[in-house]
Amino acid sequence: MEEFVSGSEEQTLAWARSFAARLSPGDTVALSGNLGAGKTVVCRGIALGLGFTGDVHSPSYALVHEYAGGRLPLFHMDLYRLAPGADWEEIGLDHYFQQGGVCLVEWAERMPAGTPFTWSLGLRAEGESLRNIQVTEG
Ligand SMILES: Nc1ncnc2c1ncn2[C@@H]1O[C@H](COP(=O)(O)OP(=O)(O)OP(=O)(O)O)[C@@H](O)[C@H]1O
Ligand SMILES: [Mg+2]
Repeated sequence: MEEFVSGSEEQTLAWARSFAARLSPGDTVALSGNLGAGKTVVCRGIALGLGFTGDVHSPSYALVHEYAGGRLPLFHMDLYRLAPGADWEEIGLDHYFQQGGVCLVEWAERMPAGTPFTWSLGLRAEGESLRNIQVTEG
């Protein structure tokens, strides 16, 4: 497990941009942490790192956003509104896991227990601008 302590949104963006270089086709990234912990900021940085230049915001209503044009296809999901224990295969999320792109999943703790992710990023806010990011591979 690795840990990164960020003192600003800009530092988190920069960290996530360089983290993106470690991503391979088919990788899935679980993002967990409270409201405002910085999950979407990390997604924005990863998208930048993959070379996507458009707008990145939480797909709270659409559930999934697709970002094309970068080094790998990128799928950004937010499961905040998904009921715990919902059948994510029925909803069709597994389709995105099989595209050979990179899947970023905010509120990944809403996935059924045991869902395998390539990477898990656990974010914790400590006050206004400190953020702790724990990186677990596998
Ligand atoms: N060090 C930091 N890293 C990231 N964001 C920070 C940091 N310090 C302050 N912030 C602020 O924290 C907020 C993080 O918001 P963000 O939307 O990324 O959270 P989130 O975890 O995606 O929340 P939600 O569960 O609502 O989707 C932003 O307003 C950002 O400016
Ligand atoms: Mg978010």
